[in-house]
Amino acid sequence: MKQQAKVVRFAVPEGRGEYGTQGEREMRRSNALLEETVRQRTAELERTNARLEESLRQLQIAQAQLLFAERLATIGQLAAGLGHEINNPLAFILGNLDYVQQQLARTSGAPSPEDSQEMMEALADARDGAERVRLIVRDLKVLSHPNDMELGPVDVVATLRGAAKVAAYEVRGRARLVEALDAVPPVNAHRARLCQVFLNLLINAAHAIPPGQATRNEIRLSARMDGTTRVLVEVSDTGCGISPGNLERIFSPFFTTKPVGVGTGLGLSVCHGIVTALGGDISVESEVGRGSTFRVSLPVYEASCIEVGSSRAA
Ligand SMILES: Nc1ncnc2c1ncn2[C@@H]1O[C@H](COP(=O)(O)OP(=O)(O)O)[C@@H](O)[C@H]1O
Ligand SMILES: [Mg+2]
Repeated sequence: MKQQAKVVRFAVPEGRGEYGTQGEREMRRSNALLEETVRQRTAELERTNARLEESLRQLQIAQAQLLFAERLATIGQLAAGLGHEINNPLAFILGNLDYVQQQLARTSGAPSPEDSQEMMEALADARDGAERVRLIVRDLKVLSHPNDMELGPVDVVATLRGAAKVAAYEVRGRARLVEALDAVPPVNAHRARLCQVFLNLLINAAHAIPPGQATRNEIRLSARMDGTTRVLVEVSDTGCGISPGNLERIFSPFFTTKPVGVGTGLGLSVCHGIVTALGGDISVESEVGRGSTFRVSLPVYEASCIEVGSSRAA
């Protein structure tokens, strides 16, 4: 029964003996065509993939250059203030060294104990001044580091304090700087980029307060834990605040309410890019006439290492 049914279904009709082999040939041809098409498509996909990889590489280079350019623009904005910051201790150092030189030129032989004491004090003051310059240069060096691709544990509090020192001249005369910094664990970040974020927030806060009423205004830096795996940093000011209409636009590139030469409109968009790339987030709360608070939440170093480790293992 079975065999009979088979014969009926697949029997070659009379007079069409060629049909089977022709069909096979056509099938082989269309198979070959299909294989060739697949080969071509695969090669095309590989070429497109290589082009995409190259574009990605170029975009990553461009992004790093943009970050660095924004940082240089910030340093440029700070240059005048930083010049003062360095000039003051420098004048102080030179004055004290001149004094010691004159004293030594005046006295022949060993100086009296009083003169000796005064010269020692002048030299100690000069040393303090030089130390201040050294610290300013050290804090600036963090920012001017172009090769900051290295991701690792970063001390948030030290970075915030470094940024505050670099921005000190902008803040002075506008507000008191208040610190509420808990001892928080390190976050997973690039130190220079994190410093860039905090510096941008600090300078924005300073720009929101008109000069001349430093005792009535406050810029507050705070750092604390947010749950067990995140560090929360806040930069608050008692400045002009941001209108609801502008609040939606402040993170967009080139949005600025500042005159040319003061603002680039890139600060907050760069901050947003840096923070989100680190797995963190940045948000703002503001009231016109009362001030603004920018919040940056970042994963702690240990937690992000565990996450990376477990996702690799998975
Ligand atoms: N703390 C703040 N208080 C008031 N306005 C702010 C504050 N921070 C940012 N802004 C507003 O957001 C805009 C964009 O900021 P940003 O991206 O840093 O660029 P820029 O500072 O160059 O203008 C500012 O021009 C300002 O209008
Ligand atoms: Mg800014």
